[in-house]
Amino acid sequence: MEPNLLTNKSALVTGAAQGIGLAIATALAKRGASVGIVDLQGAEVAAASLSQQFPEQTFTGYELDVRDAEAVTAAVASFVEASGAIDILVNNAGTAARVGIDEITAEQWQRDLDTNLGGTFNFIKAAVHPHMLHAGTGSIVNISSISGINGGAVSDGEAGARSGPAYAASKGGIIALTKWVAKEYGRQGIRCNSVAPGPVESALTAGQAYDTSNQALDRMGTPAEIAEAVAYLASDGAAFTTGQILRIDGGAVMS
Ligand SMILES: NC(=O)c1ccc[n+]([C@@H]2O[C@H](COP(=O)([O-])OP(=O)(O)OC[C@H]3O[C@@H](n4cnc5c(N)ncnc54)[C@H](O)[C@@H]3O)[C@@H](O)[C@H]2O)c1
Repeated sequence: MEPNLLTNKSALVTGAAQGIGLAIATALAKRGASVGIVDLQGAEVAAASLSQQFPEQTFTGYELDVRDAEAVTAAVASFVEASGAIDILVNNAGTAARVGIDEITAEQWQRDLDTNLGGTFNFIKAAVHPHMLHAGTGSIVNISSISGINGGAVSDGEAGARSGPAYAASKGGIIALTKWVAKEYGRQGIRCNSVAPGPVESALTAGQAYDTSNQALDRMGTPAEIAEAVAYLASDGAAFTTGQILRIDGGAVMS
């Protein structure tokens, strides 16, 4: 089988009712995977739409909050029971409070940390123990952000497109967690990587003024362009790749 194909693979994608997550679910489905769609709402509608587009495969919606560890454990167990395995986990659900450190409330700080980093942790814990370890294989892709690498876009005082400190801290945490998981479970056949997008057109960025002139490719990215990188990292085509942070950012960050 072509290593980039995902025939007979089962994948769970969080925050997949819209935006980048839906593009990821679609890219995995195009390569042959069956996909579980997780979101606060709209997961069942998205799953039904994918079922129509890819009638040979199975799509199931799970409407839950990624911050709810018990609900996450139950959903992963139910997904594994229905599909036989969780081969791929994509942690994509995210929120971004666009307020500075002087204005951000304790609730906003906690929401971004608990959703972005805590939700990623909840799903990794539920998928790895016991399912991926039992199978002796698994590929995890966490969606971070270049904000977690460089602290986000520079602001000239206008709120503009600058995301807040909780967002940057949560995304930096995802990058560290990705490397920790990669080192901890590599010997057990589990890979863990991250895609760090630059600015991408989605509900998260709608109405925000992004200055992309610092990028070699001077435009916003599309959800499908992020999804291609995720599909690659999820697949056996990336069998020797783990602990990596793949920046898909139009060349904003180079090192
Ligand atoms: N759009 C960008 O420019 C950009 C850049 C870098 C990183 N990202 C990251 O990409 C991911 C997807 O973002 P997007 O741009 O598609 O935004 P989006 O707002 O369109 O999608 C985010 C999805 O996550 C879901 N979600 C939020 N909180 C949740 C929770 N507690 N439980 C379950 N689901 C929850 C939302 O309902 C939504 O469907 C996020 O992690 C975001 O931080 C986006």
